[in-house]
Amino acid sequence: MNQEKPKYGWYVKNLIITLLIFGILGISVFLFGLFSEGLLKFILVPIGIIIMVVCLWPGIGMTILNLTLGESFDVDKEMAAINELQSPQILDIGCGTGRTAIKIAKSLKNGGHLTGIDIYSRLAIGGNALQTVEHNAELENIAEKTTFQYGEATKIPFESEKFDIVNMSSVLHEIHNPDDQQKVLNEIYRVLKSNGVFYISEWNRNSWQLIAMMGIFSFVFKPKEYWLKLLESHGFAIENYNLKQGFGIFSVRKN
Ligand SMILES: C[S@@+](CC[C@H](N)C(=O)[O-])C[C@H]1O[C@@H](n2cnc3c(N)ncnc32)[C@H](O)[C@@H]1O
Repeated sequence: MNQEKPKYGWYVKNLIITLLIFGILGISVFLFGLFSEGLLKFILVPIGIIIMVVCLWPGIGMTILNLTLGESFDVDKEMAAINELQSPQILDIGCGTGRTAIKIAKSLKNGGHLTGIDIYSRLAIGGNALQTVEHNAELENIAEKTTFQYGEATKIPFESEKFDIVNMSSVLHEIHNPDDQQKVLNEIYRVLKSNGVFYISEWNRNSWQLIAMMGIFSFVFKPKEYWLKLLESHGFAIENYNLKQGFGIFSVRKN
C-alpha cells in the first residue's frame, strides 16, 4: 500500500532556487575567466569567486539545512515542561506546515491540546497553507489533539492567560520591525498563564555552524544576547538556553 507522507516543505525554497541558479552562473563565469587570457581573466575570475561566495555557498548550506532539519530535535529533552503538566494547553506561533507543532503534539503523554497559528507565508516555506498543516496533522494521526487557524503574532486571537505553554520556533527573526517584536512579546506574555513557559528558538548569528552553513546570510540572524535582552525586558525569567548546531532554544517563564 502506498501510504501518503506529510509534506512539511522547504524553508525559503524560492530563495534557495535563486541562489543556486546564480551560484551556477558564478561557476560558469569563474571557469570562463580561468580559460581566458589577459584582462578578461583578471576581471572574470574574481567576479566568479564573489558570486560563488555570495550565492553558491549559502544556497548549498540552506539545501543541507533543509535536508537535515529537525532531525536531532527531541521534544522530551528540549521542552521538558510539556509532559510535567496534566492536559497542557499549548500555543505554537508561526506553526507553518507543522514541522515542530506536530512533533510537540505527538509527544503529549498526559493529554492536552496544541493550537497553531500562522499567516502562512509561502516565502517562508514552500507549500505553506492552513490546509497543508491540517492535512499533515491528519496523516500523523494527531488531528484530534490539534487546532490550526490563521493568526498574526502581533495580535494573538485568544483571551488572556489561556495557555500553559507557548512555542515559537524560528519565527521572530521574520518579524523585522523592533516595534512589532515588542508587540509579539507583549502578546505572548498576555496569553500565557501565570508561571507558564515560553520556548523560543532562533538561529544564533555568532555560532560557527550557522556561518559555515549560511555564509553572509548568517547576518540576517541576531546573536543570542539580542533575544536574551528582549525576553528579560518583557519580564520573562530565563531558565535555560540550549545551543545545538547554531540553533538556540530559550526556555523562559512568566513570573
Ligand atoms: C521558518 S518558518 C518556521 C515554521 C515552524 N515554526 C517550524 O518550526 O517549521 C516561519 C513561520 O513563521 C510564520 N510567520 C512569519 N511572520 C508571522 C507573523 N507575523 N505571525 C504569524 N506567523 C508568522 C511564517 O508564515 C512561517 O510559517
